[in-house]
Amino acid sequence: MLDLCLINCKLELGIGKVCLGIKKGKIVSIKRSPASAHETLDLRGKLVLPGLIDSHVHFRDPGLTYKEDFRSGSTAAAAGGFTTVLDMPNNIPPTSTPQAFLKKRKIAEKKSLVDFGLHAGVVDPHDIGLLAELRPVSFKIFMDLVDTTFLQEASVNLSGCDLELPLSLHPEDPTTVHHYTRTMKKEGDQTSLYAQARPPEAEDIAVAQAIAISKKMKQKIHLCHLSTIKSYQMTKNAQNNGLPVSFEVTPHHLFLDASYLERWGNLAKTNPPLRDHEHKLGITELAGIDIVATDHAPHTLEEKNQDVWNAPPGVPGLETALPLLLTLVNQGKLSLNHLKRILCENPARIFNIPHKGFLKEGMDADLVVVDLAQEGVINSDKFHSKAKYSPFEGFKVQGMPVMTLVRGNVVMEEGNVLENKGKFIYSQINREK
Ligand code: DOR
Ligand code: ZN
Ligand code: ZN
Repeated sequence: MLDLCLINCKLELGIGKVCLGIKKGKIVSIKRSPASAHETLDLRGKLVLPGLIDSHVHFRDPGLTYKEDFRSGSTAAAAGGFTTVLDMPNNIPPTSTPQAFLKKRKIAEKKSLVDFGLHAGVVDPHDIGLLAELRPVSFKIFMDLVDTTFLQEASVNLSGCDLELPLSLHPEDPTTVHHYTRTMKKEGDQTSLYAQARPPEAEDIAVAQAIAISKKMKQKIHLCHLSTIKSYQMTKNAQNNGLPVSFEVTPHHLFLDASYLERWGNLAKTNPPLRDHEHKLGITELAGIDIVATDHAPHTLEEKNQDVWNAPPGVPGLETALPLLLTLVNQGKLSLNHLKRILCENPARIFNIPHKGFLKEGMDADLVVVDLAQEGVINSDKFHSKAKYSPFEGFKVQGMPVMTLVRGNVVMEEGNVLENKGKFIYSQINREK
């Protein structure tokens, strides 16, 4: 007897409907005909995708929970079709000691509605060994905040660990950023100056350095939020040369250019900044991209209302990513198979997430049901995130998540989010240890 049977599910466009059998949180059968179950849900021919995995979110918990916390952030995730999130370590205190890591894991276990993994930060590279045993998904370093010696030392310590964890990097070169920020601050406080304060070459220099480290140290490197065409090309070359480098791109860097910074002011201020046409990578590069990650980085409107040099960078992205990408599917610019690769399969593969990312027998029953025909307009007033603003405000979209299931539990139905207990993605492995 199944716990749940989802009937009339479409797994691919143009192909017949199937029934998904779910038991103890796992997909146990994919069949033409239904089987007996405690509960049956008729999806009426809607498309079912593997639950989305966001490899890059900032839930601000602990430390800055007035901006977001694990409950509000994971509620936004469930609403947007994400069933797993990988949370960044720039908290107060930073998630860069075993104590801070365990504390955050406890908070998330209590508050998260979706499953989660945690990136660890690096403050003292000597903490890497002990922290690695707690199973972070990666070690994250903001290159704009450290020097080369620090990076080398972190990489040496990481190579001493048994687990081959990736080093996630925010690639912006500190010298270039400091130089141009100082110059631009003298010009005034128009928001448009921000793009020049952190120019494309700041990213390109850092990406070249990251690739060099990967080559020298044979270190797995994951590059966060690439935004320039040159960085993209360098990274593709590195991959073609066999280096263990992966990368992600955000929807805001894909869809928007620097003109949105002028249009929305600080509401579109991010690091790295939105790029002009000449330098940006865009949806024409989508076919070559490993991961689309949101870099969901919520702040309050009060903070955003300061002048450009003081307003914090970052935009919320969990509730806009899937509708934006489904719109591209409807427009014939993105195949459904590639959408699954960049939002489900590749994040699971790159960050070694067991039982997730694929809709197959034996996998966790993490699912998002999609209505490809449903049209809508991005409206940040409706966000579940505490951050109610978006540089995509007013964008017309077609294709919406209408139901999200985490390990067989419905956590979102028609925009309403329901209670659920999210799990640490490696909890199984820790218990076996
Ligand atoms: O825009 C950004 N916001 N970029 C970052 O690297 C950090 C993030 C944040 O934490 O707000
Ligand atoms: Zn970053
Ligand atoms: Zn980030």
